[in-house]
Amino acid sequence: MREITTVGVIGLGTMGAGIVEVFAKAGLSVVGVDGTPELAERGRGFLEASTGRAVAKGRLSEEDQAAVLGRVTWSHRLTDLAGADLVVEAVPERMEIKRDIFTTLDGIVREDAILASNTSSLSLTEIAAATAQPQRVIGMHFFNPAPVLALVEVITTLLTDDEVTGAVRELAVRLGKKPVVVGDRAGFVANALLITYLARAIRMYETGHVSREDIDAAGKVGIGLPMGPLTLADLIGLDVVKEVCDVLYAATHEPSAAPPALLQQLVTVGRLGRKTGQGFYAYEKPGSGVVTDAPEAVGRPGAASSVAVVGTGDLATDLVDRLTAAGTTVTAVDDPGADTASLAGTPVVVLVGGPEGSCEDCGSGDCLIAEGVDPSDATACECCHGTAPEAWFGAVAESLDSRTVLVPTDEPSAWALLGRIDPEVQVVPVAVHRPTRSGSLVEVARQIDGDDGAVRSVDATFAAAGFVTLVTRDRAGLVVDALLYPHLNDAVRMLDSGYAGAADIDTAMTAGCGYPQGPFAMIDEIGADEVADGLTDMQTETGDPALSPSPLLVEHAVANRSFLG
Ligand code: CAA
Repeated sequence: MREITTVGVIGLGTMGAGIVEVFAKAGLSVVGVDGTPELAERGRGFLEASTGRAVAKGRLSEEDQAAVLGRVTWSHRLTDLAGADLVVEAVPERMEIKRDIFTTLDGIVREDAILASNTSSLSLTEIAAATAQPQRVIGMHFFNPAPVLALVEVITTLLTDDEVTGAVRELAVRLGKKPVVVGDRAGFVANALLITYLARAIRMYETGHVSREDIDAAGKVGIGLPMGPLTLADLIGLDVVKEVCDVLYAATHEPSAAPPALLQQLVTVGRLGRKTGQGFYAYEKPGSGVVTDAPEAVGRPGAASSVAVVGTGDLATDLVDRLTAAGTTVTAVDDPGADTASLAGTPVVVLVGGPEGSCEDCGSGDCLIAEGVDPSDATACECCHGTAPEAWFGAVAESLDSRTVLVPTDEPSAWALLGRIDPEVQVVPVAVHRPTRSGSLVEVARQIDGDDGAVRSVDATFAAAGFVTLVTRDRAGLVVDALLYPHLNDAVRMLDSGYAGAADIDTAMTAGCGYPQGPFAMIDEIGADEVADGLTDMQTETGDPALSPSPLLVEHAVANRSFLG
């Protein structure tokens, strides 16, 4: 097996400088090249600053920093790459520039040197075709920030030599990275999934149904990703996001991949995200991640002083505990036989799905029939009787008047109210999500004729109980599922297309984008049936064919099969 000890990196912007750092930290000799002495000097500055931060945090000793810096030489001449075993190109995503560089490198590097591109969107096959020896051309796609994220997508063309692929794969492992080897397809694995998800989030922001901060809370707190999608788009660079959208759309003609109008406009006016100091957010200065146009953090007035939680199960118990801890007066109603007339006048009444698994007819976990009640005596079981649940929660609803805001937390609870409540009673549905590493999210749905005061009060009540909250229009999937489920569906489509396996797709998203779990682990946890049903609801509401659940997802739902062994 060949030995790679000296590498060249061409293009010393964010990605190139990060790649230099990765190589130098792994003990390789690096030649960093950019177009002018000033740009090469800027690259040195990036590396000094990044390793300096690590020293300041105590993650790197000063001696190790000196050793890392000592392994790198800086140049503005491609001819200085003559001794390299491997060259990684990381210049801007313009095919003519890349082809030019690769053609020139052919005449500079040794016969047996490997030529790699960090392209995130262009066709590697087209780049390879510009060289005399396309069998030594390969993709080595790092993720931003390269020193932190572990994924390297190793992209092969039809002509790439297996020995070259093996050497690059092995090198990636030596660098402490996780390589995923795939063929040359638009967006490869991670960008094809991630950038389509970002485009969806941007289109959602365009609708004005939900704020910038709330979309980001949905991604970070609701789904549990490291950053919200608009913050991440600003980090990646809006020009890069748009370029990848363009390439994906040209390859697939899927409307979901098309660059949203707002993204195009931001790029046109030069608001490219953090690197220019302005994108979806405004930043302290170019390159900074400190947001300067965040709305003032005002407390949320209007939290209800008294709340009733009607229902049983973990969520009901958790809500009672949290609200009580927040100083709210809480009435827990966990018995369908309880007198509900006394709830009249309670400012907020939260309805939580009934006893789990209590329906003997269908064994449904979402059944509203209380334990001990004969299903044939109740009309409450939507799952097996095909009628709206009305017994318990319906009775609660009937005892309330305009002084109360009713808060159903799930669909059966909402259905229980149909035809049973005084039209003066405000209904504000919410979705309470599982806790993630960034907190517990509650989505508050604003209905078309919903009263602002009622929405604010529900929002404030949950915020006071320690939830992160967001407010959005009452649409299928609200924000979290409307972002997540199509994203998961895209992953299933990719698997079904034969491009990459489930384990590799999961590795790409965890190692490349910091996901706590990959898409298939998420589907297995949520349930393929739930994801498929959620997509169907969204598709029914919007008529968007892209939201139809992938046949492979439906198969897994029907067969109750998990994706990962
Ligand atoms: N260089 C070096 N180290 C960095 C860094 C950088 N640019 N940015 C952050 N770090 C380090 C920090 O020093 C910190 O290290 P310690 O814990 O050892 O102190 C660690 O990373 C975590 O950083 P922070 O505490 O500041 O912040 P965080 O926990 O929010 O993590 C993040 C920041 C690593 C960026 C994380 O939010 C994340 O993983 N976000 C997702 C990023 C992502 O999806 N990237 C892929 C984009 S797509 C792409 O790049 C491909 C393409 O072609 C477009």
